[in-house]
Amino acid sequence: MIRSVVRGFGTSLPKRVLTNRELESMVDTSDEWIVQRTGIRQRYIAGEGETTASLGEAAAREALDRAGLTAADIDLIIVATSTPDNTFPATAVNIQNRLGMHHGYAFDLQAVCSGFVYGMATADAYIRGGLARRVLVIGAETFSRILDWTDRTTCVLFGDGAGAIVLEAQEGEGTVADRGVLTAQLRSDGAHLEKLYVDGGPSSTGTVGHLRMEGREVFKHAVGMITDVIVAAFDATGLSIEDLDWLVPHQANRRIIDGSAKKLGIPLEKVVVTVDLHGNTSAASIPLALASAAADGRIKKGDLVLLEAMGGGFTWGAVLLRW
Ligand code: UT7
Repeated sequence: MIRSVVRGFGTSLPKRVLTNRELESMVDTSDEWIVQRTGIRQRYIAGEGETTASLGEAAAREALDRAGLTAADIDLIIVATSTPDNTFPATAVNIQNRLGMHHGYAFDLQAVCSGFVYGMATADAYIRGGLARRVLVIGAETFSRILDWTDRTTCVLFGDGAGAIVLEAQEGEGTVADRGVLTAQLRSDGAHLEKLYVDGGPSSTGTVGHLRMEGREVFKHAVGMITDVIVAAFDATGLSIEDLDWLVPHQANRRIIDGSAKKLGIPLEKVVVTVDLHGNTSAASIPLALASAAADGRIKKGDLVLLEAMGGGFTWGAVLLRW
């Protein structure tokens, strides 16, 4: 049985760090409020010349290097983003060109904060369906460019960055001992469209728009939706919480992360947290967190790793994989 195995990973962050203290001089907020309510201490903000495509390219190059591969070895690039460089062509095609890759195919995928989970699920389906052997899955965002910097309820929460992985077709036994993606569970429900959205777009206003969020409403749904897909992932594989080595959640809010882990009975020592350093980087948050724990040796070959996310739409999902 074909499995989609992670062969390399990489990240890229903008040069500029924006601390909570600096935000105090921009809007009516405090370091104490931000840390207490979200766990965020700083975030990275893209500067001149830094875009979703440039950050995604750098993350992709690092992932290829770690995998011992070049762009010539890749069949497909999927970029999960809600902040593309242009409405079209796809940022994935832009990155394909930056990598000097003129074969294969590339497309963007838009599921907001769940984008990386959707991207991995899509890449896994393409690999198992025989449509690609090696896929670069990139989560890349510049949310700073769609924030209303006068709205303290949103501008303190988000940051910019990119993370990438190389997924490769490898032969497995068809058991849960296999390395690679074991199951992906995806959900969406458009009944919640207006709880987290951007108030502009090419076909509605002809503008880019700004991010708007009813934070409390999103918070209310988050833990329940996250636990729903995690339970579904364990049901689908017959594995259980006790088998888990690492939970790598979407990094939106420390309280949501802790709440979900507690509800599921996952000890906090098994949870990877980077929201303090990066803020919420939407589709980039999971690959950034995953890479940090893999690079420092916490996540080891053969470990059972659970990724989960929830975001605008609402969309939510989980991927269970063996590293
Ligand atoms: O990644 C996609 C999914 N997104 C999320 O997961 C975000 C989910 N939501 C959240 O993380 C939280 O709801 C927030 C962090 C956005 C807000 O935390 P909260 O505990 O739900 O606070 P709240 O919205 O209930 O606001 C509490 C108070 C309000 O003042 P009053 O009405 O009690 O006087 C806000 O006006 O905090 C005030 N407030 C702030 N104060 C200082 C809101 N933003 C700020 C701020 N600094 N930046």
